[in-house]
Amino acid sequence: MQKILDLISEEVQKAFEAAGYDKELGKVTLSNRPDLCEYQCNGAMAGAKKYHKAPIMIAQEVADRLAGSDVLAEVSAAAPGFLNMKVKETFVRDYLREMRESEKFGLEVPKPAKKIIIDYGGPNVAKPLHVGHLRSAIIGESIKRICRYAGCDIIGDIHLGDWGLQMGLIITELQKRQPDLIYFDDSYEGEYPKEAPFTISELEEIYPTASAKSKEDEAYKAEAMEATYKFQNGVRGYWALGKHIIHVSIPDLKRNYENLNVEFELWKGESDVRDIIPVMVEDMKKGGYAYESDGALVVDVKEETDTKEVPPCMILKSDGASLYNTTDLATIMDRMEHYQPDKLIYLTDKRQELHFEQVFRCARKTGLVNEDTEMVYIGFGTMNGKDGKPFKTREGGVMRLENLIREINEEMLRKIRENAETKGYTVDEKEAEETAKVVGLAAIKYGDLSNQASKDYIFDMDRFTSFEGDTGPYILYTIVRIKSILSKFAEQGGVLTDTVIEAAVNDSEKSLMLEAAKFNAVMEGAYEEIAPHRICAYIYDLANAFNHFYHETKILTEEDMQKKSGWIALLILTRDILETCIDLLGFSAPERM
Ligand code: ARG
Repeated sequence: MQKILDLISEEVQKAFEAAGYDKELGKVTLSNRPDLCEYQCNGAMAGAKKYHKAPIMIAQEVADRLAGSDVLAEVSAAAPGFLNMKVKETFVRDYLREMRESEKFGLEVPKPAKKIIIDYGGPNVAKPLHVGHLRSAIIGESIKRICRYAGCDIIGDIHLGDWGLQMGLIITELQKRQPDLIYFDDSYEGEYPKEAPFTISELEEIYPTASAKSKEDEAYKAEAMEATYKFQNGVRGYWALGKHIIHVSIPDLKRNYENLNVEFELWKGESDVRDIIPVMVEDMKKGGYAYESDGALVVDVKEETDTKEVPPCMILKSDGASLYNTTDLATIMDRMEHYQPDKLIYLTDKRQELHFEQVFRCARKTGLVNEDTEMVYIGFGTMNGKDGKPFKTREGGVMRLENLIREINEEMLRKIRENAETKGYTVDEKEAEETAKVVGLAAIKYGDLSNQASKDYIFDMDRFTSFEGDTGPYILYTIVRIKSILSKFAEQGGVLTDTVIEAAVNDSEKSLMLEAAKFNAVMEGAYEEIAPHRICAYIYDLANAFNHFYHETKILTEEDMQKKSGWIALLILTRDILETCIDLLGFSAPERM
């Protein structure tokens, strides 16, 4: 479906042309003065020079041509040359009727559909998830859903951090505790046990212990580095232990991500490209890209237009060990070979920007990607506490994701009980707890996604969990309200599917209709700019428009059946749009709250 603004623009462009002016002048935008009109066109001002005419005269001529339009109800020329416009109720009605009939409310999907791999999550195995991983998961999941909705073939890869020093630290600590483990016996040639010699809770304790020891004890740290090296180079016992660490961590990670309503299609990790690294290094050397510098192997990636220094991309350290760059590059090679994506999207904290700049340039230069493969990096800002510093626990420690979620859910539960109390009904405890989880997730996700991703934001428990204002719970509350009206209508004997959208009878209804009509434009923008916050802003406006209409209209007691049916139809469309949007943001609405 065409966007509503484009349809209105076309109408005005025709009028410019008919009056003898350049058609391009007829571009219409939303009004800056909603008190005066719904849409405006500033083309007469732009045309004044070219046609040596007062803009107001041009505007008047165009306005005259628009009398009798099927699209526009009121068109007036206003000094110095604006065209102020209101659209016809019947035009909006027809537009919404078509939206309701169309798949995806008339959103047109990009052709040909793109194949995309999105790399988000990036948790490090054996380390608990903390709030730093939260943003990546929340934003990445939403981007994935938006791209998929827009028709792309997109897969998400968690890209586990399973290559670094944490692996060696855990292995070293295990060796101290259980030196007789068969994994440490160099002469052993048999199969290793299927069961790991530790559980997830042991692992969660082993890592911090080892990490603390390595900070105090140089020799311990050296051992851990040695163990990391052995693991990375596939020394049998070390490799087998590393794989145990990964496999024991995964179910725990899955549970955590499931609670966040985040799902990855691929559960690959850095260590999965171990065998590709030597091949890639060889290619880079043969191609004349990689050279030795102070013993290390590097690829130059600086460009003439650089305004800041971009250091060479290091592929291997002087001791032959591979780095974060190396696994990222080898992963690109792997992804190109197995999935042939048109586009790669990465999400991390924006402090990793330089890393990705180097990796992308290196991949491009060494031909790991095709010339037209897009590589997109989205760096997000920090989630801060109310003091403006990175979010911490009350004691000042790193906040674990599970604890953060628990705190939000508790606060939500309290608010749900309080709300029930003021409204004078009783809540079922079990149901209230389930609802608190659903609404709590919306509070966290909306609180995050409503900000532009690159910006830092303040995690404000009170504000995020409020039922009023620009919050997730407010959006859910609106959806629940609509659902409740719809079920009452059904209880009265109304048939939801028989309802038909009608022309608006008052301003608040028309405003709601015009908000709903923006859907495909907003979605296209959110997709093209990879910007979930645009969806948040849209549903906030839509929810406000609905609530305004709701407060001014007695829907269920209306006696004019055609009117009532029109309103119900509009409510259904509004609910469907809101539910589609929150699904794209990665949360859902409860039945009641
Ligand atoms: N594991 C990394 C971290 O915790 C994030 C990984 C992001 N993805 C990537 N392909 N480098 O910082």
